[in-house]
Amino acid sequence: MAFLDKHAILERSPTLLLGFSLVVVAIGGIVEIAPLFWLENTIEEVEGVRPYSPLELAGRDIYVREGCYVCHSQMIRPMRDEVERYGHYSLAAESMYDHPFQWGSKRTGPDLARVGGRYSDAWHMDHLLDPQSVVPESVMPKYAFLAETKIDGEYVEDLLKTHRLVGVPYSDQQIEAAYADFNAQADPDADWDDLLERYPGAAVGNFDGQAELTEMDAMIAYLQVLGTMVDFSTFTPADSR
Ligand code: HEC
Repeated sequence: MAFLDKHAILERSPTLLLGFSLVVVAIGGIVEIAPLFWLENTIEEVEGVRPYSPLELAGRDIYVREGCYVCHSQMIRPMRDEVERYGHYSLAAESMYDHPFQWGSKRTGPDLARVGGRYSDAWHMDHLLDPQSVVPESVMPKYAFLAETKIDGEYVEDLLKTHRLVGVPYSDQQIEAAYADFNAQADPDADWDDLLERYPGAAVGNFDGQAELTEMDAMIAYLQVLGTMVDFSTFTPADSR
């Protein structure tokens, strides 16, 4: 009892109380933060997750530029209602090559983490041109200008290099072929074998149905790959093996 009574000293002196509070909070902080400096990696690697193809990466930049994340999250939480609506909950590995990540905190529209493959390219084209033509009650703005804005891959090699700088493991070969891959992905006459070897599972084809390469092509290429990299029919989390 005598020992506990000493607490009164602390309680009567604001300075002492503040000092000891800091010590207590610091212990909590060290326990949580310090191990992160010694851990090799906090993300469990998962088979199938690959860096974005050049065209997908360009589409992703447009997604960020247009602020799609203001209305759309890209993270399915491990809760039953979300998993039933959107599919398998998101894995950390699935956004390991995202700089910056697109988890989001607001869902005016649905989560897009697994929208890849859910709709046809033509559906995305119609929807982005005029969302209300597909979903009459939609509050999503029109992005028709994407189909009118041409893009070229002049800087795409630099874009890949920049991502490599922050840790995305693009190979020299991928960087060398960046410009060719950028153009091939949306070209219906291209030979896609090399591209698909470098970026397995990438969606290919003339996304917007127009001859020119536009921001719309890049955007749809990006949307179609979202959430499709991991094969969940064979995936088992490491700690349940
Ligand atoms: C003002 C909020 C808002 C913004 C900004 C917005 N969206 Fe949407 N989005 C919605 C809403 C609401 C829906 C659901 C109705 C619909 O399908 O249009 C939706 C639906 C979608 C869907 C269909 C998802 C599904 O599972 O059915 C896609 C794909 C999509 N948006 C992509 C985008 C992209 C790409 C951008 C940026 C270029 C964008 N959205 C910007 C509100 C928004």
